[in-house]
Amino acid sequence: MSVTYNFAGKTVLIIGGTTGIGRATAVAFADAGADIFVAGIGAADGESLKAEISATTSVAVEFSEVDVRVDAQVKALVERAVVRFGRIDIAFNNAGIPGKTAPVQDLEESDYDLILDVNLKGIFLGLKYQIPHMLAQGGGVIVNTASLFGVMGFATTAAYCASKWGVIGLTNSVALEVAKSNIRVNAIAPGSTMTPLLSGMFGGEQSARDTVTHLIPMGRIADPKEIAQLVLFLSSDAASYITGQAVVVDGGGFVASA
Ligand SMILES: NC(=O)c1ccc[n+]([C@@H]2O[C@H](COP(=O)([O-])OP(=O)(O)OC[C@H]3O[C@@H](n4cnc5c(N)ncnc54)[C@H](O)[C@@H]3O)[C@@H](O)[C@H]2O)c1
Repeated sequence: MSVTYNFAGKTVLIIGGTTGIGRATAVAFADAGADIFVAGIGAADGESLKAEISATTSVAVEFSEVDVRVDAQVKALVERAVVRFGRIDIAFNNAGIPGKTAPVQDLEESDYDLILDVNLKGIFLGLKYQIPHMLAQGGGVIVNTASLFGVMGFATTAAYCASKWGVIGLTNSVALEVAKSNIRVNAIAPGSTMTPLLSGMFGGEQSARDTVTHLIPMGRIADPKEIAQLVLFLSSDAASYITGQAVVVDGGGFVASA
């Protein structure tokens, strides 16, 4: 049974869309007819994504290199997207880094600050500048990327886990602030997904598979396209009564660890 979405006439802002989950989501939204504004680090990846989408669809696609740690850059990005497309129907706040993996006593203050700045402050800034536009236009949908490590702890990833638990706190609270304003705000909590982030964390794809596959009840690492499908579902009218949730998509990993 295949599922198709129709986002024709909608505009989507994807922050952290150059590679991995964000890139797969940009392609999926474009395939479903949405115009796309992508931001992230890495101009070459951004340009190659534009080329990929333009080769197979007729939707409009823009890219801006933006560092989510910088208030003025996120503010300017949201304004650029609104000027380009007139509105932002859907925002996917997805930028994230694994940061240093080590026991807490081996993390420097700078390691902690970097992880929290990208993974948590970046999403705060996205929300801060997206919500006023959505209030003014009469509605919208926001999806924030948390993690399976936003609903559980994991040794050697304390700061990463703290950032992702924080994303869910932001999501829950902002969802309540705008619940009567036709704006839904949800989070996704993916388990291991084969992306540059995961392979970088474990020193290559094969090493990542060897390290985490045995922890996943379904016996395989997710394809980024499977995470993108959850973002499209939460952004669609099929999810019209879902807000303030963090939806785990992890092949059963959380249940197995509980
Ligand atoms: N891959 C996994 O197993 C997994 C699991 C759970 C959650 N996540 C989360 O999914 C999200 C996407 O990760 P991914 O696995 O696709 O990795 P990825 O490295 O392929 O993508 C990360 C994206 O974030 C962007 N980014 C990083 N730092 C940024 C900054 N300072 N400013 C702007 N953009 C920045 C990158 O440009 C890229 O587009 C992250 O938030 C990550 O924490 C990933």
